[in-house]
Amino acid sequence: NVIFDTSQQGSIEVAKEISNLIRERASKGQNCVLGLATGSSPIKVYEELVRMHREEGLSFSNVVTFNLDEYYPMEKGNIQSYHYFMHQHLFDHVDIAPGNIHIPDGTVSIEEIKEYCRSYEKKIEEEGGLDFQLLGIGRTGHIGFNEPGSHHNSATRDITLDHITRVDAASAFKGVENVPRKAITMGISTIRNAKRIILLAWGQNKAEVVKATIEGEISSEVPATYLQEHGNATFVMDKEAAAQL
Ligand code: GLP
Repeated sequence: NVIFDTSQQGSIEVAKEISNLIRERASKGQNCVLGLATGSSPIKVYEELVRMHREEGLSFSNVVTFNLDEYYPMEKGNIQSYHYFMHQHLFDHVDIAPGNIHIPDGTVSIEEIKEYCRSYEKKIEEEGGLDFQLLGIGRTGHIGFNEPGSHHNSATRDITLDHITRVDAASAFKGVENVPRKAITMGISTIRNAKRIILLAWGQNKAEVVKATIEGEISSEVPATYLQEHGNATFVMDKEAAAQL
């Protein structure tokens, strides 16, 4: 685990690792398959990647992305959607092929959702799996939207959001009653199959869950603890998030 003085410094290092991977793959004529996250935590990483695209010629033409999650139900054009977030913070500013972008679709019908989740999982496999997964962490210990109780073998599926998660999202939705009750999320197994994982945690609000995740027993009560079993996962934190370690 790596502790930086500021989230800015940590984000620049993480963006460097991602850009190195993209360039290394490109030099071999290969695609780079990235699992991406939303929330406030990865924003500066995306900012830095956009800067590298503009100023250093970093190309996303060989990049294929799969986002972790999306609220359900959720329209793509809704400003609270993760679809909107990803375009606003990254995709609209780089040369990624639109067909290479995958974000769980919050508009599929309830009847289609199981089949849709299976096909999302299958697409990841067809791309050769995730080379890199970027994660934030929720106060409940969720990664993606894998809330407490998530099984370590879970795949992409629909899930009911924890009340704490909905409270944390309330300001963006102008009231907790407007936060969707469900989401579609990659599963714990989907995430764990990534060859490399970086989890970002910034600020004192995350200190408690960071301690539980890193020092606590592995348990479905704090789904992020499953990462302890991953051989190539790193926590990137600032001093405030690491304060209780
Ligand atoms: C949401 C997302 C998670 C994210 C978490 C933390 O619940 N589904 O992927 O990690 O929020 O958000 P933030 O980075 O804003 O603290």
